[in-house]
Amino acid sequence: SRNIPLSQMWRGSWCSLIPTFGAVLDKILQLEVRSDDVFLVTFMKSGTTWMQEMAWMLLNDLDYEQGGCLHLTQRSPFLEAQGTRPNSGNEIERCNTLSSPRLIKSHLPAYLLPQQIWEKKTKIIYVGRNCKDVIVSSYHFIKGVGYLSDSNLEDYVNHFIKNEIIYTSYWDHVLNFWKIRNEPNVFFVTYEEMMRDLQGVIERLSEFLDKPRLKDEEMQKLLEHLSFDKMKENPQTNATANIRSKISNVRENFQFMRRGIVGSYRDEMTPALQAKIDKWSAEKLSEHGLTEEDIF
Ligand code: A3P
Repeated sequence: SRNIPLSQMWRGSWCSLIPTFGAVLDKILQLEVRSDDVFLVTFMKSGTTWMQEMAWMLLNDLDYEQGGCLHLTQRSPFLEAQGTRPNSGNEIERCNTLSSPRLIKSHLPAYLLPQQIWEKKTKIIYVGRNCKDVIVSSYHFIKGVGYLSDSNLEDYVNHFIKNEIIYTSYWDHVLNFWKIRNEPNVFFVTYEEMMRDLQGVIERLSEFLDKPRLKDEEMQKLLEHLSFDKMKENPQTNATANIRSKISNVRENFQFMRRGIVGSYRDEMTPALQAKIDKWSAEKLSEHGLTEEDIF
């Protein structure tokens, strides 16, 4: 990938955005990037929050005290959220005033991120997650926060594969980063790998962030802190209450920390629906000489 200009790799990529993004896109593209910034980029519902807590802890030398009294959304801004959701803060302004090192979360595709990232070779962490779990997780999320009326999962899949859901095209998003995964400033990981070997991911990420190797007891404490159950009961990482307080139509049964497993699509999608997505994915990936197994 090194010989191909990045701009060429992204030609033809698609991203569906909500109209209010237009107002902030220029500001995002022009954001002043600092040399020690770390960007955490994912397609939505790919394990962003899990990785965000891990990366924040490593970047801040395991500061459980600060992490225990400030919500993750306060410690790490969500770049494009500015003005796009009811009562969301001015995230770009917050980025500008936040002390370093900044951990900035975004679901935007590569070519809509601050341009200086590519000039300064700023560190980027990218988390990918298999397509069918992303669809199931995002369906429950978007429905749960009241942005999908009576749509069922099958309708949602049809919109998703036609790139009509926010942030789609899913495959363009993942492939943009898959192609640059070996660049020294890019840390590419999957939700599936985090599930298989969280300790290995923490070790690899520490090295990427130029942090010293964790002692055994530090590692054990961090692994426990990052477990699904602990993050679910932790008010500073579980965003359920935060989202309920900000969005008025949230459904009664909405849970931000939902199942936290690989393969939840298996008992939530009919075999026919799974096959439809698999066919669509295989076609898209074959254009790049890839299969899903190459990535996840
Ligand atoms: P499910 O809806 O499949 O349960 P994001 O942070 O990108 O919005 O991703 C949310 C998904 O990550 C949800 O998936 C959520 O349950 C899962 N998740 C969050 N924290 C996790 C953790 N500590 N361990 C495993 N999965 C986690």
